Amino acid sequence: MNDRTSFYPELAKKIAPPEGRLAVLLPGLGAVSTTLIAGVHLIRKGLAKPFGSVTQMQKLRLGKRTHPRHTFIKDLVPLAGLDDLAFGGWDIFTDNAYEAARKAGVLTPEALAPVKSELEDVTPMPAVFEREWVKNLDGPNVKKAPTKMHLAEKLVEDIAAFRRASGASRAVMVWCGSTEVYAQQKPVHQTLESFEKGLKENSPDIPPSMIYAYAAIASGTPYANGAPNLSVDVPALMDMARARGVPIAGKDFKTGQTLMKTIIAPGLKARMLGLQGWFSTNILGNRDGEVLDDPGSFRSKEVSKASVLDAILQPDLYPELYRDYFHKVRIEYYPPRGDAKEGWDNIDIVGWLGQPMQIKIDFLCRDSILAAPVVLDLLLFLDLASRAKLSGIQEWLSFYFKSPMSRPDLKPEHDLFVQHLKLANTLRILVGEEVLDHSGLDYYEGAGA
Ligand SMILES: NC(=O)c1ccc[n+]([C@@H]2O[C@H](COP(=O)([O-])OP(=O)(O)OC[C@H]3O[C@@H](n4cnc5c(N)ncnc54)[C@H](O)[C@@H]3O)[C@@H](O)[C@H]2O)c1
Repeated sequence: MNDRTSFYPELAKKIAPPEGRLAVLLPGLGAVSTTLIAGVHLIRKGLAKPFGSVTQMQKLRLGKRTHPRHTFIKDLVPLAGLDDLAFGGWDIFTDNAYEAARKAGVLTPEALAPVKSELEDVTPMPAVFEREWVKNLDGPNVKKAPTKMHLAEKLVEDIAAFRRASGASRAVMVWCGSTEVYAQQKPVHQTLESFEKGLKENSPDIPPSMIYAYAAIASGTPYANGAPNLSVDVPALMDMARARGVPIAGKDFKTGQTLMKTIIAPGLKARMLGLQGWFSTNILGNRDGEVLDDPGSFRSKEVSKASVLDAILQPDLYPELYRDYFHKVRIEYYPPRGDAKEGWDNIDIVGWLGQPMQIKIDFLCRDSILAAPVVLDLLLFLDLASRAKLSGIQEWLSFYFKSPMSRPDLKPEHDLFVQHLKLANTLRILVGEEVLDHSGLDYYEGAGA
């Protein structure tokens, strides 16, 4: 910790350095995972730039505006380097990461060519999978065992074996598997005891993503959930993560339409413009879109996307502006588009004297191009959190999620700009730098000299 003033000196941590390699374990080697792995190798070779990655490209201001220091985040906090990442994963299909990337079709064969052999080296370990949880998929590369506890133990062995084989000193896991059918918390999810009993007794309420999360935490491996299904977002696994000192985060990567929503809605609210309705629809043609074509998986996504506006607009505080707005989200599976999603938003807003106005957004985005840098940042920050001895829910990583996990008695924060401030200030706190509130009054009222 340096000698600058910190409002939270007791939180400034002595962070262990990122020595050795970091195993990056990805359940689900589909469009997002393969775009991440290909991207990291292309960047390592100097053939591409990490646009969209906060860890790689963003600078933070430290200190007063009269004497500012602007430092790359990767130079401010000790993050693992891209050269130190070793990728592995699981999938229900046997395709290696090159074959999977070709099928996903996010990057062209020409773009993938320089990293073909690196991608071919990533072959999926047999997955923990149940068809009931992802109805539109089935594949041959699946583990068999008498109970879910045995499956968890096999995953723990996979993690240890991958760490040994890759020579990694640490590991992180980010769920990039398909969205599972919508489910709510049940008694089996409430305590670690009931959860472990459920694993041993093959409880039908424990989906594969929870078994991966359990195995990660049991191995001391930080875990983030990129999909909207519950996974680690249940009391049993949250408590286990706290008790074992393992950082966790989730859920559902915030990328296309919801990213836009959490950029625009805070602006409308900041200027006290009312909202009558927000209609969002997407067309999407990749495997994710195919999985979301099943109503059960779509329900997980719908719930994750729906909570955003209420949390930002606070209709309870501003009933005249936001009490009765209509919010509808649709995702349509439309194969010709592949990964090149198109998201339309129609926003009916209300201004001075109740006069109506409209905003239209047509976002021609690339889902995995937006998601890959999010996964990179998450895995690097989770590894940092682990070395800083932070454990349990990492709320400062809400910035990356559509449906951020938070302590059960706290409301999650959805406003992208508040989330970003939280992230930036947490990094400042971790290295003993002053938290910036941006009030700026001290420059004019004497104290800032
Ligand atoms: N791309 C984005 O912008 C974005 C945003 C938010 C969330 N997500 C979520 O991220 C996840 C990955 O997205 P994607 O576009 O790469 O999807 P994808 O369909 O291309 O890849 C998912 C892969 O997971 C595999 N899989 C399914 N169940 C598995 C299991 N139990 N174990 C191991 N592998 C399993 C599938 O076979 C598939 O290869 C999805 O859940 C998606 O909803 C993506």
